[in-house]
Amino acid sequence: MGRAKKVVLAYSGGVDTSVCIPYLAKEWGVQEIITFAADLGQGDELEPIRKKALQAGASQSLVGNLVEPFINEFAFPSIRANALYQGRYPLSTALARPLIARELVKIAREVGADGVAHGCTGKGNDQIRFDVAIASLAPDLKVLTPAREWGMSREETIAYGERYGMPAPVSKKSPYSIDLNLLGRSIEAGSLEDPMIPPPEEVFAMTSSIENAPSEGQEIEIAFEEGKPVAINGRSLDPVKLIQTANELAGKHGFGRLDIIEDRVVGIKSREIYETPGLSLLILAHQELESLTLSADVLRTKFQLERQWSDLVYQGFWFGPLKNAIDGFIDRTQVHVNGLVKLKLQKGNAKIIGRSSSNNSLYIPNMATYGKDDKFEHKSAEGFIYIWGLPNRLWASITNNKI
Ligand code: ARG
Repeated sequence: MGRAKKVVLAYSGGVDTSVCIPYLAKEWGVQEIITFAADLGQGDELEPIRKKALQAGASQSLVGNLVEPFINEFAFPSIRANALYQGRYPLSTALARPLIARELVKIAREVGADGVAHGCTGKGNDQIRFDVAIASLAPDLKVLTPAREWGMSREETIAYGERYGMPAPVSKKSPYSIDLNLLGRSIEAGSLEDPMIPPPEEVFAMTSSIENAPSEGQEIEIAFEEGKPVAINGRSLDPVKLIQTANELAGKHGFGRLDIIEDRVVGIKSREIYETPGLSLLILAHQELESLTLSADVLRTKFQLERQWSDLVYQGFWFGPLKNAIDGFIDRTQVHVNGLVKLKLQKGNAKIIGRSSSNNSLYIPNMATYGKDDKFEHKSAEGFIYIWGLPNRLWASITNNKI
């Protein structure tokens, strides 16, 4: 592991990233440490975090609001890709990492750093996403990862911090490990490590329980243009406001909770609780509009590529060539994804109850109808089916399938 002289450290204000500052300086001889804390809509106050880095020994402490690019460049493409890792997890944490990595690299270039650093441990996915993203954007930069190498327990880490004047975290010591941003919250550890123990209500913050959700449901309408959500209930909203509104609506009705066992890149199965109300709602609505506006063959192919896109993003390949090529396919399909989806939110459910598209609907009424306007050529079905079934006729002629 090559060391660096001047390093930009991804900083959250937590114990691990704070201890990284004296550790990099004292143990690894880094001369200058610049920290960067990102606002991704997680609702943390950034000013105390900025100060904390300086107290811990950073030479410069930067904060940046990345909410807008987070939604525009990362969340919206994931909606267009209907991205669900292993068919279920909407990637709320995974989508944030390449953006933070890109920002670290930009800052490193501005300040002339020769390395970047993060506080991820060796067991998780996030280290992979940071390291691979950084390698894709700036292969020359060194990546310093103290928490992967120091081998300290949490208690030892806190004690190490105290030696350099960092007060131990006092208040409400939550047993959970929580990652959050505007798209959702990922919660693990504590009692959740027993996969048979249900998540206690206290772990949730964005969604109501089914019990507390209002019993009367609520109908909503989401409009899409080129696969991007643009309005809710007839009100045009900018991307950030749109996600916030979707979070509030779905959260209020208890939609968007997930309790899964997932497969990490490093081979571990882990149990994670997610709440991603708005993102889950928008993906559901988007899938529905695609079923109306995309042809069957495009849908079938896109479905396979969506799985691959989700795997690539989960596994850290946001900036890779395959993800880039699949984006090209998705972009081409989304030109047609314009229209409205109507849903009913109620007691933990989001049920599709309608969809329409004025220019792109492939639902042709006089083909679909059973009424008098039916224009489908029923007679043609006979010849079609004769040829469609011909392989089986031929097979039957030489086997004993016949009864
Ligand atoms: N398992 C998720 C992922 O890899 C989220 C991990 C977030 N961290 C946490 N402390 N819960 O994207």
